[in-house]
Amino acid sequence: MPDRSLILGLETSCDETAAAVVAAERSEDGVRTRVLADVVATQHDLHETYRGVVPEIASRAHVERILPVVREAVAEAGLDLRAVDAVAVGHRPGLIGSLVVGVAAAKALAWALEVPFLGVDHVAAHLHSGLIEAEPCAFPALGLVLSGGHTSLFLMRSTRTIERLGGTIDDAIGEAFDKAATTLGLGYPGGPLLDRLARGGRDDAVAFPIPRLGRDEEGRPRLDFSFSGLKTALLYAVRGVPERSAGFPRAVDALDDARRADLAASFERAAVEQVLRILDLAIERKPAPTLLVGGGASANTRLRAELERFARRRSIDLRLPRMAWCVDNAAMIAAYAAHRLVAGERDPLSLAPSPHSALAEARP
Ligand code: KG4
Ligand code: ZN
Repeated sequence: MPDRSLILGLETSCDETAAAVVAAERSEDGVRTRVLADVVATQHDLHETYRGVVPEIASRAHVERILPVVREAVAEAGLDLRAVDAVAVGHRPGLIGSLVVGVAAAKALAWALEVPFLGVDHVAAHLHSGLIEAEPCAFPALGLVLSGGHTSLFLMRSTRTIERLGGTIDDAIGEAFDKAATTLGLGYPGGPLLDRLARGGRDDAVAFPIPRLGRDEEGRPRLDFSFSGLKTALLYAVRGVPERSAGFPRAVDALDDARRADLAASFERAAVEQVLRILDLAIERKPAPTLLVGGGASANTRLRAELERFARRRSIDLRLPRMAWCVDNAAMIAAYAAHRLVAGERDPLSLAPSPHSALAEARP
């Protein structure tokens, strides 16, 4: 890789069609990135009626939007497409029909431009999004991905050697936030709306459960997460405990606004406390100078504040992404590809998309 490269990144794994141009510079201590353009066409309006992403609608929308989004990103960067030095795409994990669209577009562009092609693991890209436009960090690092599809903890020995320490055994945290929002009668997507509602509530109104998930083969507490019990506890707090034939005793709209805010704040508190407890265990077991956190739920106000507090208490260098780079975006795809490009890595145009992350099974 020359000292400075321009990387075009594409992201179509779920319901955002995104393209970004990132300038990557190699330096003695790592790679520095600058985002020249960052375009995200969200499909939230298309999926709102269904209160969830409809895969067929998502992939069709990606087909319509991908080239306009690429053109917009290149224009925003003030470039000619021929100036691009490499094309990267999030090729796993995600909805397969959606991934196929971005992967096909990225391969065609790389082939036509005769530049390297790189497939990027979306989870790895989230993990590194706190390093975009930031100073390189020290390794090893603890890495935490908190998104709508993933909740996993990693030990990162470098940007490319990543071991999984644990993860959720049921719902992802973002998914739990979204379901809690639905239970509380909020709109879609629920995470940001729950965040706003919780700010006005009392977080000690209800003592929601924080699970402990048993011990590993060596007798140490597992570094795993679970959010489904919390989700059910919220449902019962809102609607009452269901009776066998009569269903739930209360309707969602039986709650007044103050009670809804209290429940939102108490729910958030329990979810965030679980994350912090696992981090406390992890840092004792795997002392690391750096903590990288990414994924849509890392935009959560309470979580960010608690992570900052944790970092101060543990004297760890916390790298949180800027808000725009918490949720799905293509800047993180291009920025993570920069690390692989610098290491001389390339992918063949035969690379296939996959619904699964390569990091999902990587236990140490
Ligand atoms: O990373 P992301 O865009 O997509 C996946 O890779 O899954 O994450 C989306 C998730 C959604 O569940 C959304 O509700 C959640 O991130 N989210 C939030 C906030 N903003 C987005 N959750 C809690 N508080 C927020 N402010
Ligand atoms: Zn994501």
